This record gives sequence, structure tokens and C-alpha cells, in this order.
Amino acid sequence: MTRQSIPAAPPCTLFLFGANGDLVKRLLMPALYNLSRDGLLDRNLRIVGVDHNPASAEEFAGRLHAFMVERDKGGEGTAKCLDEKIWARLAKRLDYQTGDFLDPATYQALARRIDKTSHGNAIFYLATSPRFFPEVAQRLGQAGLLDESAGGFRRVVVEKPFGTDLASAEALNACLLKVMGERQIYRIDHYLGKETVQNILVSRFSNGLFESFWNNHYIDHVQITAAETVGVETRGAFYDSTGALRDMVPNHLFQLLAMVAMEPPAAFAADAVRSEKAKVVGAIRPWSAKMALKNSVRGQYTAGKQGRKQLPGYRHEANVAADSQTETYVALKVMIDNWRWAGVPFYLRTGKRMSVRDTEIAICFKPAPYAQFRESELERPKPNYLKIQIQPNEGMWFDLQAKRPGPELVMENVELGFAYKDFFKMNPATGYETLIYDCLTGDQTLFQRADNIENGWRAVQPFLDAWAQGGEVHEYPAGEDGPEAGNELLARDKREWHSLG
Ligand code: BG6
Repeated sequence: MTRQSIPAAPPCTLFLFGANGDLVKRLLMPALYNLSRDGLLDRNLRIVGVDHNPASAEEFAGRLHAFMVERDKGGEGTAKCLDEKIWARLAKRLDYQTGDFLDPATYQALARRIDKTSHGNAIFYLATSPRFFPEVAQRLGQAGLLDESAGGFRRVVVEKPFGTDLASAEALNACLLKVMGERQIYRIDHYLGKETVQNILVSRFSNGLFESFWNNHYIDHVQITAAETVGVETRGAFYDSTGALRDMVPNHLFQLLAMVAMEPPAAFAADAVRSEKAKVVGAIRPWSAKMALKNSVRGQYTAGKQGRKQLPGYRHEANVAADSQTETYVALKVMIDNWRWAGVPFYLRTGKRMSVRDTEIAICFKPAPYAQFRESELERPKPNYLKIQIQPNEGMWFDLQAKRPGPELVMENVELGFAYKDFFKMNPATGYETLIYDCLTGDQTLFQRADNIENGWRAVQPFLDAWAQGGEVHEYPAGEDGPEAGNELLARDKREWHSLG
């Protein structure tokens, strides 16, 4: 979405719970910096960090600044080329409230901080450990901070993970909905902040071309991959109790699936879009325990190499149990039981420490109706794919067969493509810019509704239940593309994964 011609968001007091955590410094503050750079924050937007460690506003700002400078030097991040003037403008907005998330006095202090100049508008961003989500929401409610009757809006942003299974997600939704309306809840999935993810809907629904073949008459199957080269880094403790399935599937991968598979919404409005997404995720067939085991593969990386770099196995990462059975790779086959997708498998896979970083959707088309070029090697032409590359090398490519020039009839795979970098100048962005801006302006389109989240967990629950009863966790060396069993999942259906990269 381009922001050039759009107005600054309304004034507001933005409270960041978990202000000293990683999310705030790595993503939220760089995103706020970028919004400020683009003139999209109101003069009267105030940002108040809330956390238990005592600090002054200056110390809070100083720490964030030091991090931005460091990251700029290391080229790690997205805010690159820190402009001190822009930072100074942002720093003036920053404030800090020391407080225990469980202490009612903290909330009384926050009430006093809601700025009059921001018309009583306030957003409470829960960038905390998930165990605080219900606690903070309840206390915000008890303190009257979610009451909109005086005119200002009151919104709560809830980060992921939203629950750890269906029951806990339902319980969290029920707890939030006791103290606020669905309209006030912004459940974040940062994949929806990615331009390439938003573009799936635009490509599908503003080009007449796609709709004509976007169904089970022409599409053989769909593959959704999120391959990462990183391991669990400093998050061993969290990851070891979470695993690849919970960490990536009911949220990020199902968001991609929903974008690819949903029906056209009646309008490009939050509820119309979210209803279609909830519907399609709700149409994922719930597998029986036996089928869930048959249609899933778990893997865990062992020691390996990336280039020349030696990498430790997962069980040797910090804060990971030495006998951990947690999966760092998962591959699944799911079916969507509706008119458009009946009979079209969706294969999903995600893993840490794979050979390349590649998040992509590969739509594989059915073969030509019969072998036209019978006498040549074309008898079994390769399938056509449409590859939608979410990151890196953002763009879309059709794999086609073409005749290699020359006297012989020889086919070769060629590409018809669109790369973002060839058409658009993209400013550095974290992906959170759009989400924060949309929350400030009250647009919930890119946030998950309760039913969407619960439908996701409902589809994942059979895998969790089946794995709790047994099944193997296959090993794969770090730096390779998952265990052989992941390939067999497709080979058994006479298919193969689209190559990564
Ligand atoms: C997070 C997961 O939600 O998404 C991480 O917790 C994962 O484990 C990350 O690395 C992937 O996000 P991205 O934007 O790098 O694809």
C-alpha cells in the first residue's frame, strides 16, 4: 500500500506493555520511526512504554536510540540510515511508566497519562509474554480504561502466540470479550503486514485473468513453504515448549492459505474480508487421529553446516532440553472441503535451519490434457507453477515450457515474472508500519477476528492430539531442506516439492 497521499493517523496515547522487550526495540520502534519519517503520525501521538523495571523517559528513549544506532551500523535491520532529526522528533513523543502488570496501581497511573490532546484515544499494545494477555486485559477493563463512552477510542493489540491450542485460544478470546468488544481487539499476525501478502488479494481480485483458472478444474495442488535459515537463536525456552507447528502454522501459514483460497469478499471492508477468511479456514477438513499422523511429518535439526559454518543440533541450543522431541520442521497435507477446492491438496511446510530463506506459495497446475508431442521428450512435460514469492526476492513467476531455439523440438523451463524491485521503490519497512497505522485509524482488515483464530486452531488440533499419542520426529542435518519423510509426504501422491530459492 502506498502511503504518499494518505493523512496522518489520529492523535492517540499508545501504551507499549513489555516496553523493554525485544519486539519493541527490534520492530515496533523502527516501525514508528518509519511512520514518523513518512509524516503519518499525528503531532499529538504519545508513546508510553510500560514495564516493571524502573526507568525515566530519557533512559527509555536512550536505550532505544542506542539499539537503532547499533542496528544501523550492523545493517541488521530495517530502519537503516537513521536520520537523527527524525529520531529526535520521535524521541519527544516517548514517555515511560514503571509498573507491575498485575498491580491495579499501574492502571491508575496509566489513566492519568491518557493525554487530553489525544481526545482520550488510547491503544494498549500487549507486547508482553502471552501469560500476561488475560491479566492485563482484565485489569484494563476493571480500571475503566476500555470504556469508550466519553468519545475517545480504546483499542487493545494482542501479539502472537494467541493460545497454544484450541481450548486456550477459545479461553483467551472469551476473556478478552468479557471486558471489550470485538471491534476493540486487534489480534496481530505480522505476516499480514507484508506487502507481498496483501498483494495476493489484489492480484487475485483485480486481475480478471486469475479467477478463470483459480479452482480445482485447473489447479492440481498448492504448496506453501516458509523456510528459514536461522535456528532458535535466543528463544530456546519459548521454542522448546512451542515447536514449529504452533509457532508458524495456525497463524502465518494459514494466513497465506486463506489469502490464496478465500472467496472474493463482497467488499474490501474489514468484516467482509475477515468473514471469507474465517470461512475458508473453517473449511479445512479436521483429520481423524490416524489421518493426522499419516498427513504430517515432524523433523528436528541435528548438527550440520551452512556454507563453511558448523551449526549445532537443536538439542545443543541454549535452553533446549537435551532429549527434546520438539519439532523444528513440519510438513502437512490439508484438504479444503468446499466447492472451489474439493480434491486439491494444500501441502504446507516450515522449518528452521533449512538451506535457504524462502517463503513462497507454489500453485501447481494440472498437466495439459494429453501428450501433444508424443514422439519427443515432451511426453511428460514438467508441471506449470505460479510461484508467489513472499520473501526474499518478492514477486510472482510463472514457470512455463518453451521450445529451445534450434532444429530439434526440445522443451525448456522458462519464467514469466514480476519482481517488486523492478517496478517499485520500497522504503525500508518492518511490516509493522501498516499494522500500527491501521490500528490507529481503526481499520481491522489486516487483523484476525476471534472466529478466524479459533478455526485455525481447530484445523491444527488433530495434529497436536495425534502427536501427543506418538509418532516419529525425523532428524535432518542443519542446512538441509528437512527430513526425507517430508519429501515422501508428496512422493506418495506422485508429487514433489517445488525447489527452494
Ligand atoms: C515468528 C516466529 O512469528 O515468525 C518465528 O515466532 C519466525 O519463529 C518468524 O522466525 C518468521 O517471520 P518472518 O517475517 O521472518 O518470516
